[in-house]
Amino acid sequence: MKTAQMWLLGMALLSVQVNAQDLGTRVQHALAVARDHAELTARMLGDSTTLPRSSTPTGRWVTVPPSDWTSGFFPGLLWNLYSWFTTPALQHDAKRFTDRLTSQQNNTRTHDVGFMMFCSFGNAQRLSPSETYQQILLQSARSLASRFDPRVGSIKSWDGTPRWGYPVIVDNLMNLELLFWASRNGGPAAYRDVATRHALATLANHVRPDGSTFHVVDYDTVTGDVVARQTAQGFSDGSVWARGQAWAVYGFTMVYRETHDERFLKTAQRTADYFVNHLPADGVPYWDFEAPDIPDAPRDASAGAIAASALLELCTMGTDTVRQHRYRVEAELILGSLTSAAYLSQGPPAARGILNHATGNHPHGLEIDVSLIYGDYYFVEALLRYNRLMSMAPPRAGSR
Ligand code: GLY
Repeated sequence: MKTAQMWLLGMALLSVQVNAQDLGTRVQHALAVARDHAELTARMLGDSTTLPRSSTPTGRWVTVPPSDWTSGFFPGLLWNLYSWFTTPALQHDAKRFTDRLTSQQNNTRTHDVGFMMFCSFGNAQRLSPSETYQQILLQSARSLASRFDPRVGSIKSWDGTPRWGYPVIVDNLMNLELLFWASRNGGPAAYRDVATRHALATLANHVRPDGSTFHVVDYDTVTGDVVARQTAQGFSDGSVWARGQAWAVYGFTMVYRETHDERFLKTAQRTADYFVNHLPADGVPYWDFEAPDIPDAPRDASAGAIAASALLELCTMGTDTVRQHRYRVEAELILGSLTSAAYLSQGPPAARGILNHATGNHPHGLEIDVSLIYGDYYFVEALLRYNRLMSMAPPRAGSR
């Protein structure tokens, strides 16, 4: 094992033993680090129209235009930090970075319009409501719903791929939150049916008997039949891409919150069980659960952050207290590691991101062992969910 990996493992094993009091302290420290880094990033970007996407521990942000799928996460991160620290500066930055995405309300070319607009304008509307934000969200939902084909029963993910005719990726579940919101806030009630049908198709066609998930399902638009089950970002078609699995846990949990349909709770639990049953000792997944070079394979801290946030919601759902306890303990295990020196970025001025050791697209050799803005977004969301839970229940140890 290489020296860096041995150090990572050592730090990870230490973090497994973190107790609840330590975790509480570390969560508050991580939030302060997140605020410092986000404020620095906001200052650094100034008035340019771009948004941050990825960075190395010593590097600068790689920035992207508002049309990139990741554009909503930095504004959303600022809104979430504002909800905790309530400083006028954070609110000001959250507003100005959110405004950069205004044109994307008319983007009908990608399912990611849900990610982009609900993380930015959705958080804006939650924390600083306005008629302008409301209308932008409703138009964004219209753009997203335009990609639904009733013959397939799903929203198309990507256009113009040579490999697939009507690809739907498991990540797409996350976009449904915008449609559920719109159906409750002045948009057509039919958006709720669109979102529910999409989630049912994902349940039927992406989730395997063992609770793991296929990344890409391609459909025949005439018959609505499944043509292929493959991967774009995982190790192989039959393997389990860690972030895809995390999207499934988060997505089905959110769909259950919105519908109270027990089928979605069961599926959230099945996908969560797969996730937590296949984690390494420190709770941070390798980029694919079946990566051939485990334990030397890169981790994906973003998948850990997404899953931690999802588990902190899932542990409040249903009536099975044993499961609830397990999900909470697993979330605390993941957060114990992500708030440790092994994963938490060590401060400005060199570092830009918040969470180190995330992997964007391993098969294409892109964004390996970096900070990713969506990892940072869901990490902060998980820290805030942890704080909310702690105010409702006494601290518990974070080991499993
Ligand atoms: N939704 C794209 C990704 O998770 O990389």
